[in-house]
Amino acid sequence: MQPLLRLLADPTRLRILAALEPEELAVNELADVLAMGQSRISNHLRLLKGEGAIGARRDGAWTFYRNALHDDAERSALWSAVRAGLVDEAEFLDDQERRAAVLDTRRRLSRDHFAAAAGTPDFAFGTVRAEILATLVPRERIAVDAGCGDGYLTEMLAERFDEVWAVDHAPERLAAARARVQGGNVQFHQGEIDALPLPARSCDLVFLSFVLHHVPAIGAALKEARRVLKPGGRVVVADLCPHKEESLRQDEGDFRLGVDPDDLCAELVAAGFDDVARFPIEDRWIASARTQLPLFAINGVKPRERAKRAPKNKTSKRNASSKKSRQRHGVTK
Ligand SMILES: C[S@@+](CC[C@H](N)C(=O)[O-])C[C@H]1O[C@@H](n2cnc3c(N)ncnc32)[C@H](O)[C@@H]1O
Repeated sequence: MQPLLRLLADPTRLRILAALEPEELAVNELADVLAMGQSRISNHLRLLKGEGAIGARRDGAWTFYRNALHDDAERSALWSAVRAGLVDEAEFLDDQERRAAVLDTRRRLSRDHFAAAAGTPDFAFGTVRAEILATLVPRERIAVDAGCGDGYLTEMLAERFDEVWAVDHAPERLAAARARVQGGNVQFHQGEIDALPLPARSCDLVFLSFVLHHVPAIGAALKEARRVLKPGGRVVVADLCPHKEESLRQDEGDFRLGVDPDDLCAELVAAGFDDVARFPIEDRWIASARTQLPLFAINGVKPRERAKRAPKNKTSKRNASSKKSRQRHGVTK
């Protein structure tokens, strides 16, 4: 613990650790948050990484850093105590404001890309969405198509569900979706994935189809999906596996080069979903004549309300059943 305590004695390193949660940042983003040069920050990152205080994830030519202190219970407790002492400090408050602006920039870049690309179709390819729809028992009544794009999936959902609420942050894409979808059972809403313009506990299914690789913060998007779902409702994610096609940042406005399905399973559990399961998909996204990128699909369920507490004399029975429930939860592949 002593080397870590020595590292935490530096105010810049504290600011870095605070900036790198809950969402990971690239070094240029971190430089904007701290209003500091990249080379100075890189030195601190090297020291923090050497001590295992931060984790690094490669995403094509980019590297994203995250606060890894929560990976260990003792370190997490220490960091939470240190962090609590910082919340009122002016420098940290400024960092948090600039951090929000950095995440806004991620959003704006995606919105501008899809606004400029109005008129070109989204991924009108493959079988992945139809394969997923075929696995869904049609008990769902209201489906949300979050990041609906030009309505390719919305159209399929509208044939299957009583109601579809299609949400996108690019008005130009919503206009294209409106023009495509004929059914009277679809409502269109402009809004962000991590602040859906929908009431809590209002829908049965949230579809996040090829959208998470665009969003600024995946964890926030999953929590928002959980908020709008009714208990027992389901989230379904389809996306590209991690890849190295840098050109997609420019050509398709992609923020991440794919999404790691194992990381996503862990994020779904962290966001409060049960029965998280990846299902096999026979499909690939053809990025260019040379490259075919694998796809994945994962689904999770918002837990139903907890049963009423058992009477006091039934403690041992209650413990046994909560153990069973813990065993039932978790990730299956
Ligand atoms: C690649 S398209 C996918 C469209 C559709 N889901 C499908 O599977 O065909 C991504 C869409 O997500 C939207 N999008 C990206 N980031 C978003 C965000 N933060 N909030 C709302 N929509 C977003 C874009 O405007 C774009 O229309």
